[in-house]
Amino acid sequence: MCGIIGIVGTSSVQDRLIESLKRLEYRGYDSAGIAGFGPDGIERRRAAGKLRNLEEVLAGDPLTASVGIGHTRWATHGPPTVGNAHPHQAGRVTLVHNGIIENFAELKAELKAEGRVFSTDTDTEVVAQLLDRELASKAPLEAFKATLDQVRGAFALVVMIEGETNLLLGAREGPPLIVGYGDGEMFLGSDALAVGPFTNRVAYLEDGDYVAIDHNGARVFEKSGRPVDRPVQVVPQSPALMEKGNYRHFMEKEIHDQPEGCQRTIAAYVDALGGLTAVPGGVDFAALNRIQIVGCGTAYLAGLIGKYLIEPLADLPVDVEVASEFRYRQPALRPDCLVVAISQSGETADTLAALRYCQARGMKSAAVVNAVGSTMAREVDVVWPIHCGPEIGVASTKAFTAQVSVLTAIAVAAARARGRIDEAEERRLVAVLMEAPRLIAESINLEEAVKSIALEVSRARDVLFLGRGPMYPLALEGALKLKEISYIHAEGYAAGELKHGPIALVDEHTPIVILAPFDSYFEKSASNMSEVMARGGQVVFITDPEGERHAPAGARVVVTAPRCDPLIAPLVMAAPIQLLAYYVAVQKGADVDQPRNLAKSVTVE
Ligand code: G6P
Repeated sequence: MCGIIGIVGTSSVQDRLIESLKRLEYRGYDSAGIAGFGPDGIERRRAAGKLRNLEEVLAGDPLTASVGIGHTRWATHGPPTVGNAHPHQAGRVTLVHNGIIENFAELKAELKAEGRVFSTDTDTEVVAQLLDRELASKAPLEAFKATLDQVRGAFALVVMIEGETNLLLGAREGPPLIVGYGDGEMFLGSDALAVGPFTNRVAYLEDGDYVAIDHNGARVFEKSGRPVDRPVQVVPQSPALMEKGNYRHFMEKEIHDQPEGCQRTIAAYVDALGGLTAVPGGVDFAALNRIQIVGCGTAYLAGLIGKYLIEPLADLPVDVEVASEFRYRQPALRPDCLVVAISQSGETADTLAALRYCQARGMKSAAVVNAVGSTMAREVDVVWPIHCGPEIGVASTKAFTAQVSVLTAIAVAAARARGRIDEAEERRLVAVLMEAPRLIAESINLEEAVKSIALEVSRARDVLFLGRGPMYPLALEGALKLKEISYIHAEGYAAGELKHGPIALVDEHTPIVILAPFDSYFEKSASNMSEVMARGGQVVFITDPEGERHAPAGARVVVTAPRCDPLIAPLVMAAPIQLLAYYVAVQKGADVDQPRNLAKSVTVE
């Protein structure tokens, strides 16, 4: 979603604002803009579409400023036009915003009644108008607080005020905002990546905080106005992490990063020398009666795979629910249940709200996150980090397999803690898990086989993905990946549900992707495959060598992943479906890393 950067610099900021916005591109956006204190007051440049359009505007009309702000907008209120692009202005105020001002309609009506004229369709403009009104009678900080007290919703804001050329104000209520500390320069940004090229010293604002930065540093205040210290942390990151290397897209790179990402993640959850699990955080799995997993999108589907792994192995009930539903339906919860939020970003608004809902009811909490400085990581009792490095492609790949790696280790650890397996079996399963990175790499080597199917699938209007057992959530993920980046309608189904509806869609134009390694479900999946083929359906069969030998004759395409223990089948079978989505999207010329309308980090509900 929207990306924000603010710089109080000692030299020109135009190129640095753009560099930051490029680092925020991964969040998803459809217009962009920057503003700075020029020689004759605040100047602003904006453009619809990609950042290159803004760069073209700047080439013809550069910005001379050493203090400025920048924004990539993911449209919520009003289409992605130049006029609706941030920064927005009213009187002395120029500002950028990420989030939604929920009471904007009533505020707008009130301000209009006072004679204020609005020039955009956005909810953001009301904040600029309000602050300008408050500035008529108050000093900047006081006016800012008075403004914040009137707006409701989710927001991260960065503000410039005409005449206050050494000052940027920021506020956070929901979407994150960080303060970056440089040498004689200060920064505000949506995340640490945004300020990565300039500093690795950051402080995370808490919900309700507001801040003033100038060349001398930062002053942070709580919602009440009380000054507060937010600790400065050193975040490890290298500019190289953001490079695509020899890959065409971040998604392609991130698919190939998976063996290493999973290897690093698994290494943090097992004791490689001792050969047993070593899940950090000290959770007593034997004392738990239930695990409640919440997440959105791909993270939710990783959680669903976790259920298929943890329940049978550890005999521990696991509920998994999309966070946006969970948070509002008043679920029946018990304190002896552990809530586990799964989130790459650690900032997804619905997941965060679901987590807080459980915490408020006395439940212990854990989060499987990639961003260890994120809000979720800071608010839970136990952090279960994944170690796959920053994920830039909007469609999640390496975070997904790293999340599944963590859940697999937890399944084994919980099984042992609950006496469902003995030490010998734990050792065997840990050895199996440690084999996963090598087998994932073999699976990625199927790239050419998958590429050869892409042209045909790219012509389809609908694609069905079927699977049983843990291959069912993976089928859902296959369908999600394909629709996200290739814009082809795709549905994932439990293969056993085929006859309860989706079989009506089967004809010679609908590719049916069947995920079926040679496991205890295989024969049933093979029967479903026969049913599809009997109706002229074009089957793409993703299996392993044993499954290929036992497959009913007639599958159009067989993709043969390496044979593996069922424990790690979801990890090993993931690459073919990711690669399929990727090559179909490439075939269609789609914007793989920033698919239309999607955002990487969904910080509003
Ligand atoms: C967006 C992204 C997905 C991601 C989901 C949850 O929809 O496009 O790739 O799975 O958000 O994000 P999170 O950061 O909570 O994992």
